Amino acid sequence: MKIKVLGSAAGGGFPQWNCNCHNCQSVRAGKPGYTARTQSSIAISDGSKNWILVNASPDILTQIKNTPELQPNRGPRDTGICAVLLMDAQIDHTTGLLMMREGKVPIHLYTTPAVWEDLTNGLPLVPTLSFYCGVQWTPLCTECDEPFTISPLESIRIKSIPLISKAPPYSPSRYSQRIGDNIGLLIEDTHTGKKVFYAPGLEKITSDLLPYIEEADVLMVDGTFWTEDEMVYQGFSSKWASDMGHLSQLDLPHQSGSGMIAQLDQIRNKRKILIHINNTNPILNEFGEERAKLTQHGIEVAYDGMEIVA
Ligand code: MLT
Ligand code: MN
Ligand code: ZN
Repeated sequence: MKIKVLGSAAGGGFPQWNCNCHNCQSVRAGKPGYTARTQSSIAISDGSKNWILVNASPDILTQIKNTPELQPNRGPRDTGICAVLLMDAQIDHTTGLLMMREGKVPIHLYTTPAVWEDLTNGLPLVPTLSFYCGVQWTPLCTECDEPFTISPLESIRIKSIPLISKAPPYSPSRYSQRIGDNIGLLIEDTHTGKKVFYAPGLEKITSDLLPYIEEADVLMVDGTFWTEDEMVYQGFSSKWASDMGHLSQLDLPHQSGSGMIAQLDQIRNKRKILIHINNTNPILNEFGEERAKLTQHGIEVAYDGMEIVA
């Protein structure tokens, strides 16, 4: 399989339109070591011209423009995107659906019932799209452990795995989690036998996740924040990383071994990639000590246009 990182930043992107944090100022000024990033999305292909879009970012038009493979040009109106699979109902993962309204057929959308509910009511993208191309929904089961395929990519088998994270701020379920508010994916290429675990929003690595992580050859996991207090410390928010459903890279205060770096250290012989990076995160400085620390631990940082072949 080929995975293309279309957008490696968290909500807001990098730089964020109204942000003057050190990172956003630096990337805007063109300082060496800082690379702009669009909002969170990947695309998966089986090596053919067909792609599954995972998350539909508000930056989707830029991302498609920057990824010619997504436009195979087989007819007057065409796209390589066969289906859209959503990890959650957050704005940074869903609002790009509106930019796909000119489609000739309904958008083939794969979400959990919880995400469908939010996109029908709280953020009514589905009812809105019914006035354009429409949406054809395939519910993702949150209880079964069976892999599914998305036609015509029959050699890509996917398992959707419920995660602990958070429903979006607009959701009535923000503070009372439903199973299926957030999922991760175990993506398998049955030709190569390789598996990728993808979880851009992950608050806790619970023990039931470990078997999936163990099976994978490549991990692409939540890289939003360096520290639990990053937004508070920098004066941008009163929310902790965990309030927003994200596990920071450094340990939580007084909880040795709890952070993403320490937890990834326990998992051997895999490629480890952080994705969904918030613009305040110091790992965005490619020459900084935080990035060097990740490198020492064998952890990569996703960038827009990154390709993973597995
Ligand atoms: C999140 O995952 O917490 C988001 O990036 C927030 C947002 O999109 O506003
Ligand atoms: Mn997000
Ligand atoms: Zn910023």
